[in-house]
Amino acid sequence: MKSGKRAQRGSRPQAATRSDRRTPPSKKSAPSKAWTGRFTETTHALVERFTCSLPFDRRLFEYDILGSLAHCQALEKAGILTRAERRSLMRGLERVRDELRENRFPFADSDEDIHMAVERRLTEIVGPVGGKLHTGRSRNDQVTLDLRLYLREHLQVLQARLQDLQRAFLGQARQHLDVIIPGYTHLQRAQPVSLAHHFLAYVEMLERDIARVRDDFKRVNVMPLGSGALAGNNYPIDRAFTAKLLGFPALTRNSLDGVSDRDYVAETLGVLAIIMMHLSRLSEELVLWASHEFSFVELPDGFCTGSSMLPQKKNPDVPELIRGKTGRVYGHVLSIMTTLKGLPLSYNRDLQEDKEPLFDAMETVIECLTVYAELIRRLRIRRDVLSGTLGSGFLLATELADYLVNKGVPFREAHGIVGQLVRHCLEHRREWQDLSLADLKAASPHFSKDALLFLTLEGAVDRKAQTGGTSRKQVTRQMNAWEARLAKKPKA
Ligand code: ARG
Repeated sequence: MKSGKRAQRGSRPQAATRSDRRTPPSKKSAPSKAWTGRFTETTHALVERFTCSLPFDRRLFEYDILGSLAHCQALEKAGILTRAERRSLMRGLERVRDELRENRFPFADSDEDIHMAVERRLTEIVGPVGGKLHTGRSRNDQVTLDLRLYLREHLQVLQARLQDLQRAFLGQARQHLDVIIPGYTHLQRAQPVSLAHHFLAYVEMLERDIARVRDDFKRVNVMPLGSGALAGNNYPIDRAFTAKLLGFPALTRNSLDGVSDRDYVAETLGVLAIIMMHLSRLSEELVLWASHEFSFVELPDGFCTGSSMLPQKKNPDVPELIRGKTGRVYGHVLSIMTTLKGLPLSYNRDLQEDKEPLFDAMETVIECLTVYAELIRRLRIRRDVLSGTLGSGFLLATELADYLVNKGVPFREAHGIVGQLVRHCLEHRREWQDLSLADLKAASPHFSKDALLFLTLEGAVDRKAQTGGTSRKQVTRQMNAWEARLAKKPKA
């Protein structure tokens, strides 16, 4: 994925919550909004607070300033700014950026959003020329530019984290090719599979997630600036030049759509929800597998907590929390879809409600992926328990039916014969390995000595030898292919 220069340094964005709203701006100041010319009274304090988006959109400051720096250059190219004015504005913007980065930006009560705050402060620093920055631009095209820049960066982080989790699974697969586990359908024992095969199933899911992220990225990576408030703008601003400066390969083609499109937010949230759905399935499995009843795995101590009352407890909090956070991310999908469904063209203030769900979902998913990669790397497989548990549950019943098929018995008939053998075993509390050749022969004359050889777990696994099957040969092929693929750098 290609994007312009990295805009944000180091600092991990914090999650946006409603309670952020209660954080008061750091400094009081008399509102001096040049653009409020048509009003006869100042904004009511309640409304100022109610409409303010700063508690959550301040995290867009890097992108906002990046966009403004490019806009300054486009304004100079269009002959709207002199070189000296452009330089003064750019230097001023860099100073504002430093103040924001270093947490010493003097926010004012009158700052409605990050765009107003930056422009107000810029004008304080550079003087009246600050008032020229917003020429040919509206906050409507500015805010969607900022969001697209935010997303370009975060979608790349997301892709890297998805790949890291794939690597963690691949590492586990490599170490456990020879470990056989019961495979389940309906959570009932079905057929033996290689544990490596099981881990690679998650690598496949994550690969589809990555493909969705990359596809979404294409629609995010379009430059909306120049759409103005809704109709375009009156200046000879070279939009392609701005796009090039910011690393966008395409321009929005319709200004009404340019300012009001949030499909890319909805789409991103959908992509994030599917990732969480996968992580939640993994969580469910880990919670089960770590339970005393299964005991297939042991979660790393550093990723569990104890109970304040029950001394023996080691709780799988991380998988549980990730499963729980899935509901939260799903909620954000419904939130954006509902916000958008009633909006006439073009910009409507409702659109300000796109940010909190998006930021919260993005940051939640990135965090979940990061934690899971570390947990999976440290997951301990209980080989002892697994090997002890495979004898029960008739995991090899289908093998025996397939044996009969090889001897010319139609599959349906073979299925019936083996079913009766299972019933016999259940009635006499016997397992497969307790059966003698005579028992088998009593069920069908087609059984002969080699039938007992057919009844091994390894044989059952390795006979699934087509593409996609669990044979060790196939799984090794898949692991090699993944290894080669994951060694490569992510492509644009
Ligand atoms: N804070 C606004 C948002 O997030 C920015 C755009 C406001 N535009 C306007 N005309 N009030 O959507």
